[in-house]
Amino acid sequence: MSDMPLEEFRKNGHQLVDWIAEYLKDIEKYPALSKVNPNDIFKRIPETPPQNGEELENVLIDVDKILMDGITHWNHPGFMAYFNSTSSGPGILAELLTAGLGINGMLWKTSPAFTELEKAMMNWFRQMVGLPKNYWGIIYDTASTSSMHAIASAREQLSLGFREKGMAGREDIPKLKMYCSEHAHSSIEKGAVTLGIGLEGIRKIPVNKNFEMIPKELERAIVEDLLEGSKPFCVVATVGTTSTTSVDPVEEVANICEKHKLWLHIDAAYAGVTAMIPEMKWITKGWERTDSIVINPHKWMFTPMDLSIYFTRKPEILKQAFSLVPEYLKTDQDDEVENLMDYGIQLGRRFRALKLWFVIRYFGVEGLASRIKNHISLAKEFAGWIDDEKDFERMAPVPFSTVCFRANPGDKSEKELNDLNEKLLEKINSSGKIFLSHTKLNGKFVIRLTIGSIRQERKHIEEAWQIIKNNGTLMTQI
Ligand SMILES: Cc1ncc(COP(=O)(O)O)c(C=O)c1O
Repeated sequence: MSDMPLEEFRKNGHQLVDWIAEYLKDIEKYPALSKVNPNDIFKRIPETPPQNGEELENVLIDVDKILMDGITHWNHPGFMAYFNSTSSGPGILAELLTAGLGINGMLWKTSPAFTELEKAMMNWFRQMVGLPKNYWGIIYDTASTSSMHAIASAREQLSLGFREKGMAGREDIPKLKMYCSEHAHSSIEKGAVTLGIGLEGIRKIPVNKNFEMIPKELERAIVEDLLEGSKPFCVVATVGTTSTTSVDPVEEVANICEKHKLWLHIDAAYAGVTAMIPEMKWITKGWERTDSIVINPHKWMFTPMDLSIYFTRKPEILKQAFSLVPEYLKTDQDDEVENLMDYGIQLGRRFRALKLWFVIRYFGVEGLASRIKNHISLAKEFAGWIDDEKDFERMAPVPFSTVCFRANPGDKSEKELNDLNEKLLEKINSSGKIFLSHTKLNGKFVIRLTIGSIRQERKHIEEAWQIIKNNGTLMTQI
C-alpha cells in the first residue's frame, strides 16, 4: 500500500523531463491555437475511473494521444494573444520541486523556509521595481485575488464594523462607492461583487483619446457621490490596461485620493515588471503614494502560472481584515513571526516563491530586464510596420509590448470594417502559426498583438506580420 517505488519515480521523472524538453524544442510544430471542437477531448476520456492502477508511461502516452490536440500552446512563439505569459526552464523545474517538497506555508511553523523565502523574494522584487522600503509584499495566485484583497483592505480601512456585522441588512452604513477607468480589468468588478460593494458601487471613469483615466472626471464623480450621501472609499488606477495597455495618470489620481482620503490601488498586473528597465521608470511616477499595487510575474516575467505579487503600505489593515486563528493553528512563535494565512482568505498556500527565486537567480535582474526591453522594442517595430502600411491602421499608442490595429482599406463603413476585421482575425488564427486576440475600442473591432514570450524573436514577429499583411491584403481586395 505504498507510493510509487522510487526507482520507478526516477525513471518516469527523467522521461517526463525529456518529454518537456522535446515539447519545447518542437513547439512550433504544433498549431498555436487548438483546433478542437467543444467536448472533443472530454469524449476521449473514459466515462468511469480505472479500478486498478496502471503504468505512468501509459498516462504519458495519453497526454500525446488525448490531450495535445486540445492544448492551446501559450509557450508557442506565435502565441501573441491576451498577455502571453510563458513559462521558462527554471520556472518549470521549480514547479517540479514545489510539488516534490509538497509543503503548505499556511504558518511559519509549517515550513519556516517557505515564509522566509517569500519575505526575501518580496524584498528583492520590491527593489527590482523600485518601490520604497515601507511596502510589504505577499504572493497570491492571480491579480484578481490581489485586487480583491486591495478592495477588502480599502473597505476595512473605513472601520465600519464590516468584519463583525457584515454589510447585509444594515441601515447604519452609507452606500460604498469605488472608482476605476472604463478600461480597468473585469477583476476589479469581480472583487467588488465578491465583497458586497456590487456593480452599482463601481463608477467607471471616462478615458481620454489615449484610453487613460481623466482625473477631472474622477473628481467630479467623487464629489457627486459625496453630495448624494454615498461613501467613496477606493480608486483603482491601471498601469497597462488590458485592451490597449494605457497608463492612468497615477500622480493626479493620487492627489485626488489623498484629498478625499481614499485607498489607491494600482493594477499593474501586466506592465509593472517594466519598472525594472531604466527607460521605463516613468511608469512608476506616483507609485510611492499608492496604498497597494499588484504586479504579475506570471504575465510577463517568464514565471509559470500562477504568481501574482501584492504590495501594500498597510499590511496591518490586511491582517485586521483577514486574520482569524482557530486553536489548532496557534503556535509558540506567533508573536515573533508572520504567519501568511493571516493576510488573505486562503489558509493553505503553494510554495510559489520558489519559482520566483529560480527565475530571478537564473536570469538575473539584467537578464529579465533585457528580455522585456527587447519585447518592447519589437512591439514598437511592429507598430511602425502597421503605420507604414496604407491598408492598416493603428488604434492606440504602444507604451509597452501590445499593439492594437485593424485593417482599413479606407472605403468601408464602420460596420463593414468590424466584419472585415473579425473575419481577418479568424483567418489569421486558422493558419495555426500565430494566435492573436481582439478587443473593441469605441465600438470598433480591433486586433491585438502582444509580445511577451521568452521564445519570441524578431523572426516570429516578422512572420506574424507577413501572415497578417497577406491575409489583410487578400481580404481588403474582396
Ligand atoms: C490589467 C489586468 N489586471 C488584472 C488581470 C487579471 O489577471 P489574473 O488572471 O492574474 O487574475 C488582467 C488579465 O489580463 C489584466 O490585464
